[in-house]
Amino acid sequence: MSTEVIHSLIPLPQSFRKDEGRFNCKPTLTIAFETCSDAVSHAGKLLEEWLKVRQPELTCEVLNGSSDIRFLEENSDNEEAYTLTITPDQITIRGSQTGWVRAAAALVMLYDQGGWNACHIEDAPRFSWRGMHLDVCRHFYPVRLVKRLIDVMALHRMNTFHWHLTDDQGWRIDIKAFPPLSNISAWRDKDGETYGGYYTAEDIREVLAYAQERKIQVVPEIEMPGHALATLSAFPELSCAGGPFQVSNTCGIFDDVYCAGKEATFDFLEKVLEEVCELFPGPYIHVGGDECPKTRWKTCPDCQSRMKQEGLKDENELQSWFVSRMGRFLDSKGKHMIGWDEILEGGLPPTAIVMSWRGVAGGVEAARMGHDVIMSPTTHCYFDYRQSTEPEEPGNLGIIPINTVYDYDPVPEELDAKAASRVLGVQANIWTERMPSWKLLEYMVLPRLCALSEVAWTSPKQKNWKHFEDRLNRHLGFLKAYGYTYRHPLRENREFPL
Ligand code: ACM
Ligand code: ZN
Repeated sequence: MSTEVIHSLIPLPQSFRKDEGRFNCKPTLTIAFETCSDAVSHAGKLLEEWLKVRQPELTCEVLNGSSDIRFLEENSDNEEAYTLTITPDQITIRGSQTGWVRAAAALVMLYDQGGWNACHIEDAPRFSWRGMHLDVCRHFYPVRLVKRLIDVMALHRMNTFHWHLTDDQGWRIDIKAFPPLSNISAWRDKDGETYGGYYTAEDIREVLAYAQERKIQVVPEIEMPGHALATLSAFPELSCAGGPFQVSNTCGIFDDVYCAGKEATFDFLEKVLEEVCELFPGPYIHVGGDECPKTRWKTCPDCQSRMKQEGLKDENELQSWFVSRMGRFLDSKGKHMIGWDEILEGGLPPTAIVMSWRGVAGGVEAARMGHDVIMSPTTHCYFDYRQSTEPEEPGNLGIIPINTVYDYDPVPEELDAKAASRVLGVQANIWTERMPSWKLLEYMVLPRLCALSEVAWTSPKQKNWKHFEDRLNRHLGFLKAYGYTYRHPLRENREFPL
């Protein structure tokens, strides 16, 4: 491929042809559609919202007829595929409604000093799962900020928001059946102050609607059987040994987890998941499954008698039994269960999807067993790891510089074609233990998210670090125009958003 930089599109589209001329934008743009449909008004409104950031005086008028920008419905095997043609007279977007949103994101990124250079793009993503995770438990972030992450994802044509809603340090979703989760489990004592918060059903619907406009699916995570201290602080009877417990103000892995022997645990979790399934319309529910110590289960009479009764040979099999039982429950609600790669230990529920985080071994094993897999290894996809050796950057985890993210290929070489087809895609995770401010969070995420978007969207043969770096250099102005905080990969003496 040519490495000449003629645009600063990130991620790089599958094909880009530069044409002659330029479409200059008038203060009022019109957007037309073939048949009168709400869908065009939605895509048009989103485009207007995005363009106004670059050119505030712009207003879009949705018209059924001749216009500057046309959205044309065109079916393709991939609903995210689109073509975008810019000529001096007109801009034409072809695709499904999802494709239109991806095209709108590209169009907004191509906007340059009052207009667009003529070009023709044909595009579709490499992977169907292009994800970002957000932990709102270690630090709580309100809807307004969650939307900022979703928006920057959509601008980079990413499509999956994994919302980590429960953990030891806080429970963040109001559940009508259990008010103590919002009254007790959502709050912790932080140096004498009460810290925390939770989302109401209305908050969640607001986020879902915002994500839906951007054609981003939202996957909630309700952790089990570990990372349960926040729950147990309100419901100590769901533990093996009883409480009292407190919502944790420190990070780590805690021995007190849901008891796998008591039926009350399953009554509770099923009621919670029932509400979660009703609230979140998407097909996936993440149940965590990571980092669950078996210490309490080993000495708990209820857990031990469960193991006997079910013929389970050790506590790993008990975890597998636990997760499988919840998987069957989710199946009955028409949902697919996702879990971190620990759910492989002791046997995997037949329909589970594995998110491989402790390297790629879990993903490789699961893909070979015929399970769908999402790659999110700590080696490339953990955006709480530092970007550089700069002393201000938080934490003592490893360093994942942006070029390491960029060089990642989510399909491990050792997989044959059949197993490789099980890799749905890639996701980066934002664990917020060390991110007490949103500004710092953005600094840790950007511009690594830009690199990840290209890993997820662009075919490997088109990827080229040098070319990306040149585009990124220009693209930083785009991030700045949209008000995002980011780490400048080239400049010395960066401002650090403490
Ligand atoms: C994880 O990072 N514990 C999934
Ligand atoms: Zn127990």
